[in-house]
Amino acid sequence: MDLFKNIKKWITFGAKSYLFMILSSISYKGGVGKSTLSQNLAVLFAKQGHKVCIVDADESNVTVKWSGIRMEEERKPVVPVVSMTDPKAIIGTIKQLYADYDIILIDSPPSYQPISAKIMLISHLILFPIKPTGRSELWTASDILERYQETQQMKEAKTPAFFVINDYDPRPSFHKSFIEVLKEVGEEYKVPTLKTLIHHRTVFGEANSKGTGVVEESNVKAKTEIENLGKEVMDLI
Ligand SMILES: Nc1ncnc2c1ncn2[C@@H]1O[C@H](COP(=O)(O)OP(=O)(O)O)[C@@H](O)[C@H]1O
Ligand SMILES: [Mg+2]
Repeated sequence: MDLFKNIKKWITFGAKSYLFMILSSISYKGGVGKSTLSQNLAVLFAKQGHKVCIVDADESNVTVKWSGIRMEEERKPVVPVVSMTDPKAIIGTIKQLYADYDIILIDSPPSYQPISAKIMLISHLILFPIKPTGRSELWTASDILERYQETQQMKEAKTPAFFVINDYDPRPSFHKSFIEVLKEVGEEYKVPTLKTLIHHRTVFGEANSKGTGVVEESNVKAKTEIENLGKEVMDLI
């Protein structure tokens, strides 16, 4: 899968082969885990030795604040977070960052805005976090898929995109059937769901409050989920 093809126009580093990935976390709904996935994958990849930064494109600046706590606590590795909410300036910001980082994660706003379309255009890989909790999540998913299709029609090479189930609870059978329905909804748009399920675990909230990722916390199950998600993402490239 050539994830680089779609931005070759403005990357002038020619054929130099090194890992450079813009990975975005998108949903038009709040509270589904966009910031959680951005923060946790950033910490995971940074711990694995990649040069990682996050672009926080949400005006609420939640990930900027998370990084403020991380800095105050002097946690290592350092994960720089840049705030950028201007759709006209985001490409310029990323151009400035790509020489210094291997992986740029974009944490998106919780509604459809001009910057959301830009993010879909410039990403190499898109994750759509979704909670398997109700019909409204499926409506939002359909809306996202429509927008995704619109933006991809403007590009030569399609950006691979995947749903990520977050806040999963194995007890209600509804969560299992939700995944089946989502699979059908995504099929038409060629947007599959990643295998890793991120379960509902309080440690995600704790890590968020402490400026950490769950891979730095003691909850082995949460840590394994994020490691598996990171591996699934890396295996795609
Ligand atoms: N898997 C999870 N288990 C428990 N709490 C979670 C989980 N994922 C996210 N949260 C919590 O839910 C809230 C919303 O998540 P967040 O990532 O900020 O959503 P978004 O960025 O999509 O608005 C946060 O307080 C976060 O800590
Ligand atoms: Mg957020």
